[in-house]
Amino acid sequence: MELVETGIIGLDRILGGGFPKGRTILVSGPAGAGKSTFGVQFLYHGIVSGGESGIFVSFDEHPAHVREECLNLGWNLNDLEKDNLLVLIDGFSPRAGVSSEEKYQTPVDVDELITQLVEIIDKTSAERVVIDSITALALSMETEQQIRKQILKLSAVMSSLECTTILTSEMRGGVVSRFGVEEFMSQGVIVLNYEYQNSLAIRSLNIRKMRGLKHEMVERPFAITPNGIEVYATEQFYF
Ligand SMILES: Nc1ncnc2c1ncn2[C@@H]1O[C@H](COP(=O)(O)OP(=O)(O)OP(=O)(O)O)[C@@H](O)[C@H]1O
Ligand SMILES: [Mg+2]
Repeated sequence: MELVETGIIGLDRILGGGFPKGRTILVSGPAGAGKSTFGVQFLYHGIVSGGESGIFVSFDEHPAHVREECLNLGWNLNDLEKDNLLVLIDGFSPRAGVSSEEKYQTPVDVDELITQLVEIIDKTSAERVVIDSITALALSMETEQQIRKQILKLSAVMSSLECTTILTSEMRGGVVSRFGVEEFMSQGVIVLNYEYQNSLAIRSLNIRKMRGLKHEMVERPFAITPNGIEVYATEQFYF
């Protein structure tokens, strides 16, 4: 199985190299866990280290805010966009019902999104896609059956184009996905979490599943540093 480096410092080693190429991975966590950061870091690494261009679909945040926040982490998305190495699709403004000056926009509709992704992948040869979040997209669907079918369709199309895809997912009360089906529709699941110990917030990450890969089964501490997400050894849990 061909693997693609995630670029998340410390994670590739515990995955045995990276994510399986062309598969769909769910990155789940509560508010502020680091899901969007994870997604952008994955795309940024693909571009600067592997020459793989990427697409970031933002349903939960205006792309202008994504660009601003990433600049604080040292990632200048504007430059990558100018070189057509990265495409940001605004799914936020149509969802919020406000106008947008973004070049790429999508309604909250899986079929429409797939059509756009296929066109952009054809033009830019993108090999990495992040959909932030699948929860927003699934909220537009009416039944569990529809959610399953549409996520499978999205995942199958991305796979046929050999695009490795991250779907971010809202996690509430320890339940990995909002609709309870997203984790079954993905080939892998990474859970980001945080909890308070002695009044100190500790972020942690675990690989819940990764079909076809032997991976470790431990909870790892991580931090969001000026270089992005860094995953540490378990012994460093209480620092
Ligand atoms: N430059 C930075 N340096 C260190 N930590 C940062 C930096 N920028 C953001 N953070 C941390 O990352 C958190 C947000 O990360 P991110 O937006 O990736 O989370 P998220 O899981 O996508 O959140 P949401 O559920 O709201 O979409 C912030 O709450 C903050 O704690
Ligand atoms: Mg986010």
